[in-house]
Amino acid sequence: MCGIVGFNGHHEAAEILLDGLTKLEYRGYDSAGIAVRDGSKDAKIIKAKGRLDHLKEKTDNGRSVAGTCGIGHTRWATHGEPSENNAHPHCSDDGNVIGVHNGIIENYQELKEKLVRNGYRFYSETDTEVAIKLVDYYYKKYLGTPVDAINHALVRIRGSYALELMFKEYPEEIYVARKDSPMILGVADGESFVASDVPAILKHTRTVYYIGNLQMARVGKGEITFYNLDGDEIEIEPKTIEWDAEAAEKSGYEHFMMKEIHEQPKAVADTLHSAVKDGKVDLSELGLTEERIRDFQQIYIVACGSAYHVGVAAQYTIEDLTDIPVRVELASEFRYRHIPLNEKSLVIVISQSGETADSLAALRKAKEKNLTTLGIVNVVGSSIAREADHVFYTLAGPEIAVATTKAYSSQLIATDCIAIYFGSVRGVLSDDRCAELLDALEKIPQQIEKILEDKERLQWFAAKQSNAHDVFFIGRGLDYAATLEGSLKLKEISYVHSEAYAAGELKHGTISLIEDGTLVISVLTQKRLIEKTVSNMVEVKSRGAYLMGLTTYGNYDIEDVADFTTYVPDTDPHFAISLAVVPLQLLAYYFSVSRGLDVDKPRNLAKSVTVE
Ligand code: AGP
Repeated sequence: MCGIVGFNGHHEAAEILLDGLTKLEYRGYDSAGIAVRDGSKDAKIIKAKGRLDHLKEKTDNGRSVAGTCGIGHTRWATHGEPSENNAHPHCSDDGNVIGVHNGIIENYQELKEKLVRNGYRFYSETDTEVAIKLVDYYYKKYLGTPVDAINHALVRIRGSYALELMFKEYPEEIYVARKDSPMILGVADGESFVASDVPAILKHTRTVYYIGNLQMARVGKGEITFYNLDGDEIEIEPKTIEWDAEAAEKSGYEHFMMKEIHEQPKAVADTLHSAVKDGKVDLSELGLTEERIRDFQQIYIVACGSAYHVGVAAQYTIEDLTDIPVRVELASEFRYRHIPLNEKSLVIVISQSGETADSLAALRKAKEKNLTTLGIVNVVGSSIAREADHVFYTLAGPEIAVATTKAYSSQLIATDCIAIYFGSVRGVLSDDRCAELLDALEKIPQQIEKILEDKERLQWFAAKQSNAHDVFFIGRGLDYAATLEGSLKLKEISYVHSEAYAAGELKHGTISLIEDGTLVISVLTQKRLIEKTVSNMVEVKSRGAYLMGLTTYGNYDIEDVADFTTYVPDTDPHFAISLAVVPLQLLAYYFSVSRGLDVDKPRNLAKSVTVE
């Protein structure tokens, strides 16, 4: 997604803006630009297509652009193809208003027609240029302040935006406005910072403001004034970011992804311990009363991508431990489908970023239907976290690699805790059973450590198999949920086509694709289903498949069928997926590395999909 940065202070702005954009590269982009003012009314706008390095070359790493007030942007194209012309910042023809934007202006066509009728011309294909010129139009029509002009424009705009603007008549100020797209602001030592996400300003300040939806701000040098859409001043409490600057760096690993795979033990432990009080899983701080929990007749889990795969796993675990029916829904489907929703339902929205547009829209649909909503989110203050009735924060810390690992594992633990807590409150689980389950969860972190100690075997296997064209993952029950995530990891970072299949489903068509040497990866941690899955392995083996088995220590007879077997420690079957997913993450990682690909920033992908 697009990334925005802003700086207003005493230092030269350009280098600070470029450094901030570098920290936002993980959001995915195809062009970039900055606009800087040196206190005069003239601003310098420099843009470049492609990687940030091109912009750095054009500005001599910012040194050729003077000024202490500026804005910057990395663009992930939504309206108009990637080009320098479509890159931000955009500006009104007389330079009166200059701006950058992350989001989508849904009614930009009608607004563009209105502006054309009023004499405006357009040089780009972007919705952002329309928004900038709409602000300019109202600024000139009402001869008011920037706040008035922005307010008039926002009343007309439909869609999402993190908007950052500079006005010719106000050369020492930046104005921002937000709806649905992420934005934070910070201050330190008489200087102000604006960004889409924490890593972009963390080296400058830990004191940040999470500007709310439909709120605006005037960003001076070290002081920020917030307004609502009526132009009335409002107060926002600052928050302190706990993350170290180091936490957003690679700390010695070649890629963020490998760093984050290795952070899983801590992420899992931290998330688990946030839900344990006096030796028991206690989620009373979520704010859901025990009466409400006993009253639920249905749970919907709504998410996208890997977060959706967590939902598929949680369906098995929550139904088994609470007897509450669970439906798992893709957020992009849930938001548009007519679903007869049981009003005694809990809607759980899972999202690492807390900004995924489809998941946010699904949350809002659930709230419109007056359903109780719970967000499982990794980013404090994100939109889903703030709009859900209740929020369970995973404590995975900043996740930079586009391919999620530690956030996925933390989300699994969060749903496990919900299953145990709900099962206990509803009288389905005895105290002894809860203690047994918690004991198993407490062991997961060091069991992941054990798996990571043996990663070289997977590196060797991946190097041998990395030219594979089609890879199939098969499993049953929670093993099937694990295969969904294993397949996505492989696809998104190694670009190898793969499919995840419920093992019993192969014979209904897909088995026709199995040829000599086709790699089939079989996950077998669910003891009561292993025999069934082994028979599926035999079926594909007889058709020439090359078989990898992923199972728990002790199931050594899998080696009679599989050509290569890897093991994970044994644990309660409900939580085995937290272990099985680790070799699958490593396999995808090593496939990608052996294919010489950009592991952390795979092509066409963004860390957070904040537009539809
Ligand atoms: C996972 O590796 C992908 N990056 C993607 O599927 C991601 O899980 C999905 O876009 C959901 O993102 P969210 O958790 O931030 O909502």
